[in-house]
This record gives sequence, structure tokens and C-alpha cells, in this order.
Amino acid sequence: MVKAVVCGAAGGIGQPLSLLLKLNPIITELSLYDVVNAVGVAADLSHIPTPAQVTGFLPADNGAEKALKGADIVVIPAGVPRKPGMTRDDLFVNAGICATLAQAIANACPKAFILVISNPVNSTVPVFAETLKKAGVFDPKKLLGVSHLDIIRASTFVASVLGKPTEALHYTIPVVGGHSGATILPLLSQAKPAIPDILNDKEKRDALVNRIQFGGDEVVKAKDGAGSATLSMAQAGAEFANYVLEAAFGGKKGKVVQAYINLGADAGGEGIKKEIGTDLDYFSVNIELGPSGIEKILPIGQIDDVEKGLLEAAVKELGPSIEKGNSFTPAPP
Ligand code: NAI
Repeated sequence: MVKAVVCGAAGGIGQPLSLLLKLNPIITELSLYDVVNAVGVAADLSHIPTPAQVTGFLPADNGAEKALKGADIVVIPAGVPRKPGMTRDDLFVNAGICATLAQAIANACPKAFILVISNPVNSTVPVFAETLKKAGVFDPKKLLGVSHLDIIRASTFVASVLGKPTEALHYTIPVVGGHSGATILPLLSQAKPAIPDILNDKEKRDALVNRIQFGGDEVVKAKDGAGSATLSMAQAGAEFANYVLEAAFGGKKGKVVQAYINLGADAGGEGIKKEIGTDLDYFSVNIELGPSGIEKILPIGQIDDVEKGLLEAAVKELGPSIEKGNSFTPAPP
């Protein structure tokens, strides 16, 4: 029996994400929570004949904690998305929503895997961690900032530059750092299969890095005020949730992914801090998933000179975003 919860389930990401989780055969119970329309979305999805039993919850009568009770995994796309001209940092208004949800998780399902989609991820993951720490239930191995959209974008964009089919993650390209503009660090030198045609062409490479870092802006611009990436994010979120579920409940070992995580001593992040020469408490790194979440934090490995420059820029920009999340104080209820 595996219970999944989506917080923000009635939104642009929440609805297709909930649909994709309803189709995941590992999940037997799916709770949908939102401040609006969660009951309607749940009724709609409940007509699809898959194992997951779906229930919707609204805030009344402690609905958040009812939805979260006993959850194994919570996926969180709750909050406001970007409008044209906004950076992800402009979304710090979402910090309050994240702190409230983190407290509800601490009360109702402190052992659940927590997958944070709400932006700015670089700051909202620290907000989750700090709230869970205060509640005495923080497990750094189970808190994962979802940067997987950057990974699927990298794979898709590389394939399209090379005129190859954009089939499911044909190109594996680790993306580390953070989830916002210059903090997004695609390691093209580690692409599998290798992409010498791009690495040896500075103009092509710079354009590709820029597109991966700012791919979200393409969608914000095209939607022209109607929000940011929702469908691709839902796919990325569901795929990432499936990796976590397969490792935890499906007996699949050794899956290596990237996620934005805490690098504290309890998380086993000291080695990676030395490798990248930083004292940042959060970074998106290679992790191996297992039954208890992050089984191992793996080295970033060899990077080339271009990536060393990008790493420096990413570290510089990440510091203040992390600090903003660490020092956030929620308004009294
Ligand atoms: P949306 O506005 O369509 O949906 C957000 C949903 O959250 C709404 O249904 C809203 O009612 C709900 N909500 C608001 N306050 C809540 C609360 N206190 N508790 C529960 N639910 C609450 O926004 P969209 O497009 O779905 O984006 C959601 C978030 O995901 C945004 O912060 C966006 O920036 C972020 N995002 C993250 C990405 C990533 O790669 N990690 C990619 C794309 C978006």
C-alpha cells in the first residue's frame, strides 16, 4: 500500500501531475489537496480504472492534515507561478505556503518523501528544511527539490540541436547546481552518448547552455501571462516521483538522478562540498536513490573549463537564495 499526496493539486501543474500519478500502478491511495477545486479534480480522476483510490481535500476541518495523514510521498506544486518579466526569485511569496505545508507534513506524515516543485526551489527547499527541523522531524535523505525539468529539457534540446529523435531521455545530461537561471549547470561534457559536435562549437554550446538555463522563460513568454511550464513540469514531476517510488517500494536499486538537496553532515554532503569548494548547504547533485530516499550522494566528477566558470557563477547566485530560505520567518497564524 503506497499513499501519495499532491498539494496544489487543482493547479496548472497539479492537475496533469495528479493524472499521471493516478496512472502509476505503484500508488494505491492518492490524496489531492488544494485551497480550491481539489474535490472536483479527485472526482474526475476517480473514474479512471487504475489501483489508486482518489480523494480530494480542501482546507476546511483541517483538510491539509487529513489529506496528508499516513502519506508515503508528498509532491508539492502549490503556489503562484511566474508571469512575463518575473524571475523565480520574485516568487518568494510562496515561502509562506511552503512553511504551512511543511508544518502539516510534520504533524501528519513526518516520514514521507517530500518532493518540492514550488518555486523558487533554491529557497523553498531550505524553508521546508527549517520548518521540519523546528518540528524535530527533518530527514535530509527524504527532502528533494525537483530540478528534473532541467534534466528533461537538456536531453530534449541537445537532441533537437543534433537533429536526433527526442525519444525518452536518449541523451543523459546531468544538470547540477540550482533551479533558476545561472544556477542551472548542465554538464554537457558528461553527456551520454558524448556530443563532441556541440562541445567543439563555442557558439552552439553557449546557446544550448543558455536555452537550458532559461528554457522556462520560453514557456512563460509563449503563455503570455497565463503562467509558466505546467505540462512538461507535470511529466518531469511524475517521472521523478516514479524514480523515488520504484527505489523505495519497487525494489529498484542504483537509480542515479539529480535533485536539489541539503548537504549537511547528516545528509552526508561534506564530500561534495569539498569537491565543489563551497560551504553552501544546498545544491543539486547526483544522488543514488534507495528505500530510505537518498542512499548516496555521488561526486560531480570531471568537468571542463567552461563548466568550472559556470559552477563559480552558480555558487555565487545560490548563496543569497539559500540564505533567504534559511532565514524565512512565517507570519503568525
Ligand atoms: P497554478 O497557480 O496553476 O497552481 C498552483 C495551485 O496551488 C493552485 O491550484 C492554488 O490554488 C494552489 N495553492 C495556493 N496556495 C495553496 C496552499 N496554501 N495550499 C495548497 N494549495 C495551494 O501554478 P502552477 O503553474 O501549477 O505552478 C505551481 C508552482 O510550481 C509555482 O510556484 C511555479 O513557479 C512552480 N514551478 C516549478 C517548476 C520546477 O521546475 N520546479 C517548473 C514550473 C513551475
